[in-house]
Amino acid sequence: ETGYVTLDTGFVNTASCTSAITYIDGDAGILRYRGYPIDQLAGKASFLETSYLLIYGELPTADQLAEFDSRVRKHTLLHEEMRQFFGGFPRDAHPMAVLSSAVSALSTFYQDALDPFNPEDVEISTVRLLAKVPTIASYAYKKSIGQPMLYPDNNLGYVENFLRMTFGVPTEDYEIDPVVAQVLDMLLVLHADHEQNCSTSTVRLVGSSHANLFASVSAGVNALFGPLHGGANEAVLTMLNGIHANGGDVNAFVERVKKKEPGVKLMGFGHRVYKNYDPRAAIVKQAARDVLERTGGNDPLLELAMKLEEIALADDFFISRKLYPNVDFYTGLIYKAMGFPTKMFTVLFALGRLPGWIAQWREMINDPATKIGRPRQLYTGSPERAFVPITER
Ligand code: SDX
Repeated sequence: ETGYVTLDTGFVNTASCTSAITYIDGDAGILRYRGYPIDQLAGKASFLETSYLLIYGELPTADQLAEFDSRVRKHTLLHEEMRQFFGGFPRDAHPMAVLSSAVSALSTFYQDALDPFNPEDVEISTVRLLAKVPTIASYAYKKSIGQPMLYPDNNLGYVENFLRMTFGVPTEDYEIDPVVAQVLDMLLVLHADHEQNCSTSTVRLVGSSHANLFASVSAGVNALFGPLHGGANEAVLTMLNGIHANGGDVNAFVERVKKKEPGVKLMGFGHRVYKNYDPRAAIVKQAARDVLERTGGNDPLLELAMKLEEIALADDFFISRKLYPNVDFYTGLIYKAMGFPTKMFTVLFALGRLPGWIAQWREMINDPATKIGRPRQLYTGSPERAFVPITER
């Protein structure tokens, strides 16, 4: 009941774990967090509300959410010595590399509460991660543009605090655009969890050795960095900019994809599980229109993206391979319209995925039956042979 064997293709494919957190039906394009369909949460439940749902299993009451929110706000500051940490990176360091390093470093500053089997340690580590990762993310960006890092302002909401630390400067007030904050909050909800994707499985696998939460999540950040996973939103913008720079001929680009030119894929398309339209992509596409209208950006790249989608959805090469837009296809355009540089796009994905990583790690620690076992292999190497001394080789 936990998997199946497909010997005809020469490998054993079993369900890697059980989990009660997120359900995906790839053929029907269904995504549910703790039973709630994603389209009922996006735009209605805040990111902290959704984080509470994923981590504790139920939607919070107003009092529960207020208490959770106030606990998170209390921990947005980084240890003062950690601010120097950012000075050690080169200015052009990729913010994902800074993020994974800084998250790992949290286990050096908070050594008092790292025991995965002490519920109080797990609780404070959960809150510290949710609270400090936006601060770390904004500092990684400030470092790259040589601007001073702002202390968090705990009078602000979760997303508003992050926007101010990212785009604000000490010399003037920062005015938060409520629509940008609301859309960013919704995008974080859309990214909050996604079953056993590459980075979440990484967090579980590292955690299964009883590594602490910070070490496990740092590993997840590194897995997300890859262009086939979280790095795809950055790769989509690189792809669209390339098409735009070559005169905007989307048909010529699609032909290159179909010819399978090395390194040429339609980034933001395809999915290991969704063999139908990624339910998140539909929501993001509408948000892209809303934000671009709001920010007045009639971004030519959005036109290109929509043309690419239109062509691909009508072309048998993509249809026969069940390649549809995934969550990454439009998100980069929104982040760009919000003022984020391309290098920050995957950091925003990590910010969103954080509660999912935490919830899945906690589930695995609390219930070893949900542990991802040690991956099995089918050996295809040499049969046994006798050692030959180097003088005879
Ligand atoms: C995320 O797992 C998750 O849940 C991930 C995620 C999450 O929320 O955590 O949803 C986030 O990672 C979304 C995916 C973002 N990545 C990209 O957009 C990168 C481009 N996509 C591909 O690399 C690819 O589609 C994958 C890796 C996402 C999925 O690959 P699959 O399902 O394993 O498909 P495959 O690699 O076996 O390819 C099947 C065929 C191949 O052609 P043939 O050998 O059959 O001729 O489809 C082709 C592939 O070459 N193909 C593509 C393609 N994706 C697959 N061809 C062109 N463009 C693409 N994007």
